[in-house]
Amino acid sequence: MRSTILFLATATFISILAMTGITTTPAATVSADKPLTIDQKVDSLLSIMTLEEKIGQMNQYNGFWNVTGPAPKGGDAERKYEHLRKGYVGSMLNVRGVKEVRAVQKIAVEETRLGIPLIIGFDVIHGYKTISPIPLAESASWDLEAIKRSSEVAALEAAASGINWTFAPMIDISRDARWGRVMEGAGEDPYLGSKIAVARVQGFQGSDLSSPTTIAACAKHFAGYGFSESGRDYNTVDIGTSTLHNIVFPPFIAANEAGVKTFMNSFNELNGVPATANTYLQRQILKKKWGFDGFVVSDWGSIVEMIAHGHAKDGNHAAELAVNGGSDMDMESSLYVAELAKLVKNNKVKEALIDDAARRILKVKFELGLFDDPYRYCDEAREKEVINSKENHEAVLDMARKSIVLLKNEGNMLPLKKDGQKIALIGSLAADKNSPLGSWRIAADDNTAISVLEGMKKYKGNTLSYAKGADVAIGETSFISEVKINTTDKSGFPEAIETAKKADKVVMVLGEIGFQSGEGRSRAHLDLPGVQQELLEEIYNVNKNIILVLNNGRPLSLNWADENIPAIVEAWQLGSQSGNAIAEVLYGDYNPSGKLPMSVPRSVGQVPIYYNYKNTGRPTEPAPDLVFWSHYGDEKNSPLYSFGYGLSYTSFAYSDLKIQNNYSANKKVIVSVELKNTGKVKGKEVAQLYIRDMYASVTRPVRELKGFEMVELNPGESRTIEFTLTAKELGFFDNSGEWIIEPGAFEIYVGGSSDAKLKKEFDL
Ligand code: NOJ
Repeated sequence: MRSTILFLATATFISILAMTGITTTPAATVSADKPLTIDQKVDSLLSIMTLEEKIGQMNQYNGFWNVTGPAPKGGDAERKYEHLRKGYVGSMLNVRGVKEVRAVQKIAVEETRLGIPLIIGFDVIHGYKTISPIPLAESASWDLEAIKRSSEVAALEAAASGINWTFAPMIDISRDARWGRVMEGAGEDPYLGSKIAVARVQGFQGSDLSSPTTIAACAKHFAGYGFSESGRDYNTVDIGTSTLHNIVFPPFIAANEAGVKTFMNSFNELNGVPATANTYLQRQILKKKWGFDGFVVSDWGSIVEMIAHGHAKDGNHAAELAVNGGSDMDMESSLYVAELAKLVKNNKVKEALIDDAARRILKVKFELGLFDDPYRYCDEAREKEVINSKENHEAVLDMARKSIVLLKNEGNMLPLKKDGQKIALIGSLAADKNSPLGSWRIAADDNTAISVLEGMKKYKGNTLSYAKGADVAIGETSFISEVKINTTDKSGFPEAIETAKKADKVVMVLGEIGFQSGEGRSRAHLDLPGVQQELLEEIYNVNKNIILVLNNGRPLSLNWADENIPAIVEAWQLGSQSGNAIAEVLYGDYNPSGKLPMSVPRSVGQVPIYYNYKNTGRPTEPAPDLVFWSHYGDEKNSPLYSFGYGLSYTSFAYSDLKIQNNYSANKKVIVSVELKNTGKVKGKEVAQLYIRDMYASVTRPVRELKGFEMVELNPGESRTIEFTLTAKELGFFDNSGEWIIEPGAFEIYVGGSSDAKLKKEFDL
């Protein structure tokens, strides 16, 4: 009977509650003919919940035993199981697959007093079983439709597997390639990052959250996590006010405006207060100023971690700080369930805050349709049909092609001829079927990606010879273990050198293994790990016709390669279809169009490095013999490859930049430019517009991306592209967080990267 009560979506819900003897609140006394709104249903439900049951909704546990097996005896699992049966668990993560999800949901629905269904969360970061490129790679496509589609596919598969909530997108802006989690984000720019955040939220959530093909999204990590000092994961963060408002916040604002249902806070502190207890971030900004009406989940154990941070005295204090600070759900600290009721009774926490948190969580459960049918996401037939379907693989292949960035192509080394060539393929990553899946792909089956070797074998007109050369890492690697770098074993070099000697062209696949980036995977060096650089140089000594294909989860500083290797392809970690996408690009069946979402440094010493830096008071050009300008004595200031940069097999020319300044009349500045395909093949170009606000009450960056458009042109074809700048593009956040537009001089740059030269000025 209990379980039936909550499936009903209409006013009868209330009458049945009455029949069970449960009293309803005034909110429930509505006309029996009129369907209740979700808010009314939530209020009615809340009115019959005990304090402990409300707190239970705020408690999230990790999957704790093989739920389809016998109930656990003793230890942590038994405690959690007991909590689940009492209705003291609102959500679980890392329970996946229809069978497993159904088993936990059944306990929540059939054994607890009120039968409230669980919300099942999972890190669906770049695909579920069918893996799409890592998010940083997808961002290099600048193709918002393709990114949205990729998230749709991920949602479709996850939802078919019983999951109804992903902890994605990660929308932390980062300027530091040492930080392993740059692979999970959209790079360094708040404008591009905001557009991608929206595409991903829309992709996951769709237009109907209650559909069994969509899942709730989660904007994370709020806030500042991408600015961990020295790129070391979990490290302290120290961000100025202007950077917080203008760089860190915008993607979160965009995700909220796109209707994201949940936020996750972050492990770091901000101004000495951990984000988990940060009232300014979670209450003042997120819930009050931005009006966010979903719920905030803590990061994994981030409530209990406040003790180690030196902010909370003990677990009781940590729970008090977290809930007062605006964290609605406790992921895996077990502190809400242990401490909140006591804190309410001791007047340390207002019950109204518990009500508010439980209300937010229940609302999302209603919106997901879980009260109509808690097994809505549990359909074995759909699971079988949807997972790894042909269409899903086509979608991630499309995304993979679009994510590739051509960094260098001297003497038109690429595309490769399709016939009569001897091609040597070198590097352990070339045959690796696991690394292309990248980090954060927990549900994927190991070794299921198409390798470059497999992809290239499909082109049968050439002779392909493969030699490993060297491994990147020693032994097995996994999501939880540290990667051990092989620095010594060069026993494969002779075979690789012999293979290269006989070839017309050598394709070398070098970079990082899949688990070398991601959470906890910071690096102090940004070069090729292991003996790969030596291998590259030794092969170069015998054959200079090298095409270097990079497989990596972060920008790598490869100065030697840039100076010596004629062709370089940034192919990231491209997911299940990686090898097919790379082969298509190498053979010219797909003309690359990706553009870097992060600057590539020349040296770790330049990091953090980003295109939208501020000018100093000192000259930017070297004054002869003078040292007092902002520079390094031993390295250039510029990156090796700039934000927004990427080549094509054709060439493009920009001309005729025009500005129509109608700001005083209709608050619009129209910028137009002529783009021409000046090469011999059809190609796509991402035309980018940057502004510079020349002087302002709070100094502005030397360039800021404020528009981009992807255009496909035939050889010789031209198109006029128009950008519209409004107050939204021309203003900025002042130091009190208010959006302001100041009159004065602006510069506009349009071109194919953040180094765009075509320039015009106007006054506002
Ligand atoms: C910790 C990570 O920081 C977060 O992004 C992730 O969603 C949770 N673990 C759950 O796996």
